[in-house]
Amino acid sequence: MVSSSYSPGLEGVIAAETAISILDTDVEQIVVRGYDLIELAKNLQYTDVAYLVIYGHLPSEKESEEFCRHLAQNSDIPEDLYKLFEMMPKTTVAMDALRTGISFMAGYEDPELLHDNSHEANLRKGLNLLAQIPALSVNAYRALNNMPFVRPNPELGYTENYLYMIRGELPDQLSLDAFDKIHTCYIEHEMPNSTFAARVIASTLADMYGAMAGAVASLKGPLHGGANEAAINFLMDINSSGGPENAESYTMEKLEQRARIMGFGHRVYMRKYDPRAKFLMDYIPRLSNETDDGEALASIYKVVEDVMFREKALYPNTDFPIGLLYHLLGIDVPLYTPIFFAARTAGNVAHILEQHDDNRLFRPRVIYNGERGLVTPQSP
Ligand code: CMC
Repeated sequence: MVSSSYSPGLEGVIAAETAISILDTDVEQIVVRGYDLIELAKNLQYTDVAYLVIYGHLPSEKESEEFCRHLAQNSDIPEDLYKLFEMMPKTTVAMDALRTGISFMAGYEDPELLHDNSHEANLRKGLNLLAQIPALSVNAYRALNNMPFVRPNPELGYTENYLYMIRGELPDQLSLDAFDKIHTCYIEHEMPNSTFAARVIASTLADMYGAMAGAVASLKGPLHGGANEAAINFLMDINSSGGPENAESYTMEKLEQRARIMGFGHRVYMRKYDPRAKFLMDYIPRLSNETDDGEALASIYKVVEDVMFREKALYPNTDFPIGLLYHLLGIDVPLYTPIFFAARTAGNVAHILEQHDDNRLFRPRVIYNGERGLVTPQSP
């Protein structure tokens, strides 16, 4: 059966039934497994929300401890991956290194487990990916920038360990709190392009590593996860070309050139405030004196937000405050999207599990607008 309706970019099309999450724009709520994501972020740690996303219910105290212990004990990556990172051309982009690393890791999986798409097997692979992607993402970036590896410390909690590997030293409480909240805000978001990509790949009964590698490729794009890097680069460009006083004219000039300001707009929210951006904004004044340029960037942030609303009626999406917050946390820009992917791993694992548990191959049709009836030239 072929439906006659066509929606470019699949806008408004229902692609799956899911019990994982929904963006309820009427009430401006991101519902995750029945809970409001922002309430989860306010009250719980990332690991408990990751458990909820993957298992469908909040963990008991014992389940939470076991889950965190499992993540800590499995947080290191195969030794050969460290060697691989050293061999990569130094021009490799961190997201590409992450994608390659995930593909490489598939070779270290028990071949039977790799091709077993049962719920239990997928859970084992998914939890390993969740545990290992922090060490993978950070140490790939470290090798590409001639920085010493920082191996995960199994004594530390998941987000503390991640920030420790990023910075090379134990984080303070405020940084840890902000980083954990951002991670939770990124954890799951219904059917963005990368989640859809993961589900489309999984629907061929391809394995979890393949689906996750495809999701990394999707998330890299500036219309999606890459927007957090583009957003801070925009703020820093303004700061280095006149600072806050120049923010209005700089933004206006870009809009006159019909440029997209990354970190604004959203296919689903578009004319409404992204609840994650609203929640995370509060961390900007709390962190803005952590770097020399923090105050100036925070002022520029506000001007750009006002101009975008006045001129385009567009609100920031979550990547706008997160781009700035990661900078205030002292994180290098090329790590922003890999960290986003690490946070989203829980969501993607849940979606791949759901897809494989009740699979139907994605195979849409097209409206053909090419030629027909051409005569094939005869071979001489
Ligand atoms: N800057 C300037 N104009 C914009 C922007 C923007 N960021 N976003 C949308 N518009 C305008 C666009 O020019 C168009 O105007 P017109 O109708 O006059 O041509 C109108 O809004 C509709 O845009 P669209 O591209 O048709 O809408 P879409 O649903 O395809 O786009 C989007 C959604 C997220 C791709 C787009 O808003 C965008 O490019 N934003 C910047 C990139 C970004 O921040 N991405 C992160 C998304 S949220 C996190 C995530 O999921 O990764």
